[in-house]
Amino acid sequence: MPAVVIVGAQWGDEGKGKATDLLGDRLDYVVRYNGGNNAGHTVVIGSEKYALHLLPTGILTPTLVPVIGNGVVVDLGVLFEEIDLLTARGVDTSRLLVSANAHLITPYHTAIDKVVERFLGEAKLGTTGRGIGPAYADKMSRVGVRVQDLFDENILRQKVDSALKSKNQLLTKVYNRKAIDSEAVVQELLSYAPRLAPLVADTALLLHNALRDGRTVLLEGGQATMLDVDHGTYPFVTSSNPTTGGACAGSGIAPREITRAIGVLKAYTTRVGEGPFPTELHDAWGDRLRENGGEFGTTTGRPRRCGWFDAVIARYAARINGLTDFFLTKLDVLSGIESIPVCVGYRVGATTYDEMPVSQSDFHHAVPVYEELPGWSEDISTVTDFDDLPKNAQSYVKALEDMSGTPISAVGVGPGRTQTLVLRDLV
Ligand code: IMP
Repeated sequence: MPAVVIVGAQWGDEGKGKATDLLGDRLDYVVRYNGGNNAGHTVVIGSEKYALHLLPTGILTPTLVPVIGNGVVVDLGVLFEEIDLLTARGVDTSRLLVSANAHLITPYHTAIDKVVERFLGEAKLGTTGRGIGPAYADKMSRVGVRVQDLFDENILRQKVDSALKSKNQLLTKVYNRKAIDSEAVVQELLSYAPRLAPLVADTALLLHNALRDGRTVLLEGGQATMLDVDHGTYPFVTSSNPTTGGACAGSGIAPREITRAIGVLKAYTTRVGEGPFPTELHDAWGDRLRENGGEFGTTTGRPRRCGWFDAVIARYAARINGLTDFFLTKLDVLSGIESIPVCVGYRVGATTYDEMPVSQSDFHHAVPVYEELPGWSEDISTVTDFDDLPKNAQSYVKALEDMSGTPISAVGVGPGRTQTLVLRDLV
């Protein structure tokens, strides 16, 4: 009854889709437990590239059941758009299940996300503008609309009417925008109900039974540790808990069922949106990582901020998530760099830190303490065995493993499904 969690160890875009996809053949269920269509998983299979935002990557593996858990916020327009796009490319999406308790992102959530960011100006968070924060805010304020509400028209109308009463005041009086017509929202949501009905399930019960029957369940986190609303760089975070604790709450699987927690870790660091990032590079090195690593957002197309590897963050992610393994991705992007700096601590004024500073203000002012590791010049994208990597590439991986205190069990050397060196079984 293995339940395995895959979680981003940095600020997202570590290549979680590739890690999930690698395990595909050994899994029975793949569950998304947090976030919504702010995520961006890119999976390359042969010459086909799939960019998924909301659907679990498991949708691409015909033998398993993809599940959208209760912790996800679902934009139904996006859900059916992704389903239609995949269907047009010959992917069978009929196994997909959606939790009856998942909350919906409605047109007013997206409108508010965009308007608030504009209103904040310089102080903006750099959200994806997909309505994620406002939908989670409504969930916590107990005025959200859930998947199951679509099947009780009266309840749906009551909930949308009541939510829009205050939101329209906000939109018109504070943000100087047009009010949103409640009935139009209700009709839009109802129009999805017939297509949604066959997908809706008590997914927590289903997963419980699956684990009891010895099935393998993968819990696939959106975003990442440093974007966690509790453990990330608040307020420059998303509005959910991508960390392993969130995997339990967002799926209904109990903590004691989790058998493995895999952190996906890029061989350098990237981040999109605003917020502190100690190892960020504002020079030609940053441009080089961005170009060689194709560091442009899957969801928004925004260029990602790039910097060197940060071992303090890797250690922190290992601790917060209780990681059993790391999956190191994009090692090939570092080929051709003579000497590679790796951040081993921070200096803030006269103080040196080897853990995350407790104060966010200190983290904003953290100056990285670097150690230089010797690089390699060879193209490693065709290597199939860890022992065939150049010695310095092997040492780089081993050094990161030592610094983070957690075994690196797989190493990505290119975007393709087969470009992964497996050092230890992940399930
Ligand atoms: P939101 O999730 O759209 O509210 O955005 C909040 C912050 O999380 C912003 O800095 C986004 O750029 C960031 N973010 C959200 N989803 C992802 C992701 O999948 N990868 C990387 N950053 C993300």
